[in-house]
Amino acid sequence: MKLLLPSVLTLSIFLSSCGGGSEKSKATESSEKPAAKTEAPTSNTGIVDLDNKGIGPISSISLGDIDQVKVDEGKKLFDSYCVACHKAEEDFIGPAPKGILKRRSPEWVMNMILNPSEMTAKDPIAKKLLEDANGVPMIGQGLTEEQTRSVLEYFRTL
Ligand code: HEC
Repeated sequence: MKLLLPSVLTLSIFLSSCGGGSEKSKATESSEKPAAKTEAPTSNTGIVDLDNKGIGPISSISLGDIDQVKVDEGKKLFDSYCVACHKAEEDFIGPAPKGILKRRSPEWVMNMILNPSEMTAKDPIAKKLLEDANGVPMIGQGLTEEQTRSVLEYFRTL
């Protein structure tokens, strides 16, 4: 028993320090990435499809290292054009972009931002999203491809 008590204490300290701190969640997330791929995050449709590139001007992009300048620009754009309907980390009128690149290809995400009306009319995932949003449409904000690429970069960090 003498040995058990300290280990129980250590365990509970470990647990409470993990569960409590939201500033720690970033680090936890990135180390959990591989596991998350099969399980979460499936807010909204529950569909995970990394092969569908969607319909629109973006046919192929490659993601390099995170570009912090783009991330900052993308966050600014998101905060001015998208927050009427989206919250970064929880579903709102539209789904949360948090973890979106585990559910969708980068091309799909950009096409959804650039071309939402055709996407929700023809793309199987976007159609289902529209259905789940009770027909409330995602409204294109007239962003350029470059601005949209920055928003994507920001989404990579969520
Ligand atoms: C008028 C409300 C509204 C605005 C403004 C809006 N969205 Fe949306 N968005 C939605 C809705 C609702 C959906 C779900 C699809 C649908 O119903 O058309 C959605 C879907 C999405 C998706 C797909 C999410 C997923 O999980 O697959 C992305 C990505 C997205 N929006 C990004 C953006 C970005 C970036 C902006 C700002 C430039 C933006 N949206 C502005 C309402 C909006």
